[in-house]
Amino acid sequence: MTSTVSLADPSGAGEAPASHRRLLMCPPKYFRIDYEINPYMHVGVQPDLDAAIAEHEAIVEAHLAAGRKVEFVDADPACPDMTYTANAAVVRGNRAVLATLPPERAAETPHHRTWLRDNGFEVAETRYAFSGQGDALACGDLLLAAHGQRTDARAFRTLARHLDCEVVGLRTTSARWYDLDLAVAVVHPGAVLAYNPEALDAPSLRTLRGLGMELIEVAPEEAAAFALNLISDGRTVTMTSGAPRLAADLRSSGLTVVELETQELRKGGGGVRCTALTLDNPA
Ligand code: ARG
Repeated sequence: MTSTVSLADPSGAGEAPASHRRLLMCPPKYFRIDYEINPYMHVGVQPDLDAAIAEHEAIVEAHLAAGRKVEFVDADPACPDMTYTANAAVVRGNRAVLATLPPERAAETPHHRTWLRDNGFEVAETRYAFSGQGDALACGDLLLAAHGQRTDARAFRTLARHLDCEVVGLRTTSARWYDLDLAVAVVHPGAVLAYNPEALDAPSLRTLRGLGMELIEVAPEEAAAFALNLISDGRTVTMTSGAPRLAADLRSSGLTVVELETQELRKGGGGVRCTALTLDNPA
């Protein structure tokens, strides 16, 4: 397959085999709010650590109950955000592009690099800002990638080349949607997406609507409650509680929906999806 970057007119999406059955997670052992790098974080509002650990354990249990395999990278006391492993990298086949995280999170990267290399991934890096899977959603032959907040569009070339896929560039409109995984969710790769129209600029909305996939619209209030920050393997959707409309839409489309509390984890600006890096996106 040829690697191309197309910011305006992507095509060629096809329904892909299921993924999200192999996940990399990191226990929130040292989770705290030491800095504010998204609008949901407030150093004056600290998580209850035991409750955060319990939320995380419930997410892990839900993945295991859905038949997924969960692997772990060790937490580092110097990395209070490390439980959000979705930002480590983006993976396709046995290849990974490592994130270029904000300076406050840079100490996480050596752990991610080592884990991915030790586990057989060919790792590439970009010198441009890149939020890992937070801003890059695998969707069949396409990679839906956002820029404008945590990712510089110049990183897309490395994504397309190293992962050998077509990058569909999207632009998120505000810091509320600082990562694409708060604004768009892949429900069935190549076939069904859920999205919050308010989170994307007009050209991006046209791009998304031109992909030929079924689109489920999600209200901004539910999106701001991390509704779209979900993991779907095509059978089971694991998502936050507090987004009853999206949960009902997904159930009525025949999916099993598991809703979990994320009250503590959201104090860092993350939900269910942020806590897992998908390791089995098909190449
Ligand atoms: N506090 C973390 C940050 O701002 C949260 C990351 C959430 N991850 C995600 N994929 N949206 O970087």
